[in-house]
Amino acid sequence: GPAGLFVALLAGYAIGSVPFGLLLTRLAGLGDVRTIGSGNIGATNVLRTGNKKIAAATLLCDALKGTIPAVLAHYLLGLDGGIAAGFGAFLGHLFPVWIGFRGGKGVATYIGVLLGLAPLGVPVFAVFWLGTAKLSRYSSLSALVAMVATTLFLFIVDRGSLALLFAVMTAISFFKHRTNITRLVSGTEGRIGEKG
Ligand code: G3P
Repeated sequence: GPAGLFVALLAGYAIGSVPFGLLLTRLAGLGDVRTIGSGNIGATNVLRTGNKKIAAATLLCDALKGTIPAVLAHYLLGLDGGIAAGFGAFLGHLFPVWIGFRGGKGVATYIGVLLGLAPLGVPVFAVFWLGTAKLSRYSSLSALVAMVATTLFLFIVDRGSLALLFAVMTAISFFKHRTNITRLVSGTEGRIGEKG
């Protein structure tokens, strides 16, 4: 019932709000990732420290933050539970209470929730992300294109609450990318791996 879904949302939030980018860069002695590049705590900005392994670990941990609660809650409470927990994890990553609600932009956690609830969307996301990245070398643009493509794909194959979840997450992530969008338009956005 609604109480179970609320617990799933809160549990997802608690897990999603663990800022792995910040923790892993600190543990690796790379300093505070918020003081370099875009200032974001995501894998793209961790890569700007020059440490590929810590960037990959950030991507993986931030993705699993979405996958694990979504899969568990889906198993325990059904699809609505999975959606509630996945959405909670996404919100936790973007708006973590522990660091003043200044979290990431949600791309890795989005992929993680996608893997947990709609795995057929992962290759769609990957093809559009990699294709855009190959052409542009912009991580932000690649994510924006891939999220729109994934949402369209889900509306074609699902048309239900899953497609709606990803439409909402895409819209919120676009909002979090607003300074990236401004830089893309003005031609000042940093390329992948470029130090900011
Ligand atoms: O995944 C986040 C990416 O789309 C943008 O990151 O650090 O370039 O703002 P960043």
